[in-house]
Amino acid sequence: MTEGATRRTVLATGAAAIVAPVAACGGNADGSSGGDLGSTKDIPEGGGKIFKDQKVVVTQPAKGDFKAFSAICTHLGCTVSKVANGTIDCPCHGSRFHIADGSVAHGPATRPLPAKSIKVQGNSIKLT
Ligand code: FES
Repeated sequence: MTEGATRRTVLATGAAAIVAPVAACGGNADGSSGGDLGSTKDIPEGGGKIFKDQKVVVTQPAKGDFKAFSAICTHLGCTVSKVANGTIDCPCHGSRFHIADGSVAHGPATRPLPAKSIKVQGNSIKLT
């Protein structure tokens, strides 16, 4: 009688600890995702700030009253480039939009900038 071959399976287990590299996230100081629009302190009263990456413009038409609109001009789709004298201005063909409601102040655009929904918590502004 022959004995069946003893099969020994050796599972080699790596004993070395695998050290996962710690990924350092660049970008926002607080590491939050794209909805963060920074601090209310960065939005001038009677003016606004353009967030090119998020394609959003945040305005403060009256003290403590923050609004947000799409930064894409409704004329031919340029990104608006400045907020001055109560309007959000497009560099391409001169359209201007009121900071209070995004409505057209000056053509050739005929449609208002669509409003974006934001939430203000303390000093921080976030897209919702
Ligand atoms: S794309 Fe803004 S004015 Fe034409």
